[in-house]
Amino acid sequence: MKFKDKVVVITGATSGIGEACAEVFGREGANVVITGRNSAKLEQTAVKLRSKNIKVLAILADAGSEADNKRMAEESLSRFGRIDVLINNAGISMRALFQDIDLEVFRKVIDTNFWGTVYATKFCLPAILESKGSIIGISSINGYRGTPARTAYTASKYAMNGFFESLRTEVMNQGVHVLVACPGFTSSNIRNNALTADGKSQGESPRDEAKMMTPLEVAESILKATLKRKRDLVLTVQGKLAVFLNKWIPGIMDGMVYREMAKEKDSPIK
Ligand SMILES: NC(=O)c1ccc[n+]([C@@H]2O[C@H](COP(=O)([O-])OP(=O)(O)OC[C@H]3O[C@@H](n4cnc5c(N)ncnc54)[C@H](OP(=O)(O)O)[C@@H]3O)[C@@H](O)[C@H]2O)c1
Repeated sequence: MKFKDKVVVITGATSGIGEACAEVFGREGANVVITGRNSAKLEQTAVKLRSKNIKVLAILADAGSEADNKRMAEESLSRFGRIDVLINNAGISMRALFQDIDLEVFRKVIDTNFWGTVYATKFCLPAILESKGSIIGISSINGYRGTPARTAYTASKYAMNGFFESLRTEVMNQGVHVLVACPGFTSSNIRNNALTADGKSQGESPRDEAKMMTPLEVAESILKATLKRKRDLVLTVQGKLAVFLNKWIPGIMDGMVYREMAKEKDSPIK
C-alpha cells in the first residue's frame, strides 16, 4: 500500500493506460480521481474500480477545456483535501497527411494532448507543491521521433516533453517530481479513435494490437518510475531503439520510419 491515503488524479481514465493507472495506483491504496468526456464510460469505469475497493471520484471533463480542468482540481481538493500525483494521460491520435488534414482536426489534437496537460498541471500545481508530489506526462515515443501522417500528434508530444523539461527545472528545488513517460505501441483504443483528415474516427486499428504491450504493463512501469521519482521512462524495445537511433543517425531513421509507417493497413503514405 505504497500510496495509502494519497490522491492520484488521472485525466482520460475511461480506457487504456489511464484506466490501468487508476487500477494500479488504487491497488496501492490511493484515492483516485478519474476524468473522461463520456458519462456512461466514466460511470462504468468508476463502478469497476469501486468493485476492487478503490475510492473513486469520477469527473466529467473535457481535457481541452480550461474551465473543466479548473473544476477538476477544485472538486478533487474539496473531496479529498490534497493532490499527490497528477497523471496527464488524456490523449487522442490522428492519421492523415499534413497536406490533407483539416486545421480544426490538427487543433483538436493539440488542444487535448498539449493544452489539456498545461491546464491540468496549472490548476493542480499549487496542491502538488504542498504535497511535494509528482506530475506525470504520458507522452510517447513520438515525443522523441516524428512519424509521417502523425504531424499533430508528434507536435503535441514534443510540446509536452519540452513543457515538462522546463517545468521540472523550475520546481526541482521545491520537492516536486516530474516524470515524462513515453510508452511504445500499447494495445488500447487510441488507434480506433484516431482522427482522419476530416475529423472522423478511423474506427479500426491499422496495426496488430495483440503484439503490443498491455495498458496494465505500462501502468505497472509508471507506478515503479513514480516510486523511484525517475525523470524519464521509455518503454518497449522498439521504442528504446527508436530513441537511441534517432539521436545518432536521424537521417537513416527518416527512411526506416517512412517504410515502417507505409506498411500500415490503408496507410496514406504511398
Ligand atoms: N496506446 C499507445 O500505443 C500509446 C503509445 C504512446 C503514448 N500513448 C498515450 O497514452 C495516453 C492514453 O492513451 P491510450 O493508448 O490509453 O488510449 P485510449 O484507450 O484511447 O484512452 C484515451 C483516454 O483519453 C480520454 N480522452 C480522450 N480525449 C479526451 C478529452 N478531450 N477529454 C477527456 N478525456 C479524453 C478517453 O476517454 P473518453 O473518450 O471516454 O473521453 C480515454 O479514456 C495518450 O496520451 C496517448 O497519446 C499511447
